[in-house]
Amino acid sequence: MNRSPKTYRVKSFGCQMNVYDGERMAELLDAQGLTATDGDDADLVVLNTCHIREKAAEKVYSDIGRLRRDDGSRPLVAVAGCVAQAEGAEIHRRTKDVDIVVGPQAYHRLPELVADAAQGRRVADTDMPADSKFDALPKRARQVRPSAFLTVQEGCDKFCTYCVVPYTRGAEVSRPWAAIVDEAKALVDAGAREITLLGQNVNAWSDGGRGLHDLIEELAKLPALARIRYTTSHPNDMADGLIAAHRDIDKLMPFLHLPVQSGSDRILKAMNRSHTSESYLRILDKVRAARPDIAISGDYIVGFPGETDEDFEATLEIVRRIGHSMAFSFKYSPRPGTPAATMPDQIAPEVMDERLQRLQALIVEQQLAFNRRTVGARTSVLLERPGRHPGQLIGKSPWLQSIVVDEGAVGDLLDVDIVAAGPNSLTGVLTRKQAA
Ligand code: 5AD
Ligand code: SF4
Repeated sequence: MNRSPKTYRVKSFGCQMNVYDGERMAELLDAQGLTATDGDDADLVVLNTCHIREKAAEKVYSDIGRLRRDDGSRPLVAVAGCVAQAEGAEIHRRTKDVDIVVGPQAYHRLPELVADAAQGRRVADTDMPADSKFDALPKRARQVRPSAFLTVQEGCDKFCTYCVVPYTRGAEVSRPWAAIVDEAKALVDAGAREITLLGQNVNAWSDGGRGLHDLIEELAKLPALARIRYTTSHPNDMADGLIAAHRDIDKLMPFLHLPVQSGSDRILKAMNRSHTSESYLRILDKVRAARPDIAISGDYIVGFPGETDEDFEATLEIVRRIGHSMAFSFKYSPRPGTPAATMPDQIAPEVMDERLQRLQALIVEQQLAFNRRTVGARTSVLLERPGRHPGQLIGKSPWLQSIVVDEGAVGDLLDVDIVAAGPNSLTGVLTRKQAA
């Protein structure tokens, strides 16, 4: 049997690093002569999966089922990403409808795996090779979107007790300085105006004594690069140099995603977060002293094992003290193999639901308040994609707000006046030059 695919589709779920990995897989397949397609008729479908919470992981199996066509046939199916890493060949035992299982550190081998699968073999590769996949990936594509992702660091050594990342992505590894600078140049040459540096602990990036702020300073020298962002950061790696970069480097956007997870020190300890609510707030004080207008984003988990009403109140309290521009909140989801999964006092689903609702209501209130404060401001917007209505475009402000405008083209960096705000998007009007 030979089912060599001619067309492919990569579907990425979960975090921005998966988006990056999905793009790299697409570039690999392009280099093999395959053609990308958005339709349901692709010969090869890559599901680039997320394992962070149970819902995301279970979704994979229903997605696989849905790839069957009306005539009973199906495409070649590859499961990539963190579910592939966590479950490995177990996926082949659970379903006959998958040909390839490939982990996040092994996807540079996708072409060989596809060739094997085309011969009818069911294959799995979840190695975490010492030599980096990055060296084996092709040079960046010729065309990229105005806002591009660039992975600089992967993996995590922090072992928060709820989290699968240290197991699915492996130990903390920083990519070398020169490789990152080269890739950034290639992205800018290909049309990127903004680069977001990615890492599970991006602010722990280092190479030969140089830290993330040195890298940002270097990238800021690229003339055609207008904006730099980075995500996700851990409070304990928020070095003074990086904080100072928010004051000193104009191209570094005034936005910081710095998860605290809970406001209760007792829960933070049980989570193995190795910071307290106060130490977190002290870091924010320094960040805000360096860059007063900085927007703060975060992640929260409600219903961690043992979380009492009082612990949850402490979370609401820290949210009030922080004042987020946006934040993400999740119900705790026990992940196989993590210490928290077997902790006593797991929280009832109804309690989690109620806490999540209260927390999300508070966050939406803060988002709206933040957005309203920017009404009347004149600011830059990088247009990223067409909007819902003809002629409309959606872009991002420096504070990562979604701004809808009626003029311009994707890739434009425009000055706008913000004229209206909702909790999730704002309206901008192109700034007209005043007659002298
Ligand atoms: N349950 C719920 N949320 C989780 N996160 C990580 N692991 C879990 C889990 N087991 C959340 C954290 C993290 C974000 C990416 O996902 O808040 O910051
Ligand atoms: Fe997971 Fe904690 Fe590492 Fe973030 S810092 S990836 S939450 S273990």
